[in-house]
Amino acid sequence: MEHKNKIILITGASSGIGRAAALAFANEGGTIIVSDVNENGGEETVEMIKSNGGNADFIKTNVAVFEEVENLTRNIQETYGRLDIALNNAGIGGQIARTVDASVESWEQVMAVNASGVFFCMKCQIPIMLKQGGGVIVNTASIAGLRGLPNSIAYSASKHAVVGMTKTAAMEYAKSNIRINALCPVFTVSPMFDPEALDGMVKGISEKLKAGIPMKRFGRIEEQVGAMMYLCSDKASYVTGHAMPVDGGLTA
Ligand SMILES: NC(=O)c1ccc[n+]([C@@H]2O[C@H](COP(=O)([O-])OP(=O)(O)OC[C@H]3O[C@@H](n4cnc5c(N)ncnc54)[C@H](O)[C@@H]3O)[C@@H](O)[C@H]2O)c1
Repeated sequence: MEHKNKIILITGASSGIGRAAALAFANEGGTIIVSDVNENGGEETVEMIKSNGGNADFIKTNVAVFEEVENLTRNIQETYGRLDIALNNAGIGGQIARTVDASVESWEQVMAVNASGVFFCMKCQIPIMLKQGGGVIVNTASIAGLRGLPNSIAYSASKHAVVGMTKTAAMEYAKSNIRINALCPVFTVSPMFDPEALDGMVKGISEKLKAGIPMKRFGRIEEQVGAMMYLCSDKASYVTGHAMPVDGGLTA
């Protein structure tokens, strides 16, 4: 069991990639702190882990609010005394509109959750990891953090910010035995990316998006989780500051 007795925080773990990661890391023996704004989904993830014989707790947190992130990490410190792995995965897609039509409100909301949220998390997590002598962080960015994504100016800006923060913090704390990487998924079927719902808005769009991916298919949640598990494992012990595309070749 790769993560036996490790304390693992996953934000955005009430659904999608975060929930699947929570189940997978729990299967490897980790104690999972499931964190999300969605309380019902979070409790459900905890129940799924427990009914599989694993350990988990839910701590409701809005990552866009610094005091809530401070409380989350203080709570983890007091309850468990350490934090081995943090998956800063919470995120929102925001409005789909061209730059001129994008609302200031959606810009601020997306930047607050996706960019400030990751900054707040790392700001609070790294001191615990420094104190205990090391740790691993994986921030969920996107291929939209490596290239433009038309009709998603805020999302793309926020995910470029995640990649930049990941690289910067990785360089700062590399000598302190803290590895920090970013996962960059392509379109991956999840509650956030539902091809059918998208086609309902713009007819035929999902086939067009798929056609642009060299593998000619969307990503699967378990493929994203597999990359997260690699980045958190000892197999990646010399990997830090990397923004890893898991994208069927899109950014090749
Ligand atoms: N699915 C994709 O195609 C795709 C592609 C690239 C990147 N991503 C990224 O992967 C991550 C997970 O997305 P997903 O596809 O599993 O979507 P999802 O909507 O299923 O999961 C996102 C989770 O984040 C939570 N969340 C939203 N705002 C929050 C906040 N302020 N504080 C705490 N939690 C909050 C949601 O409640 C939800 O549980 C996101 O960061 C997303 O941007 C997804």
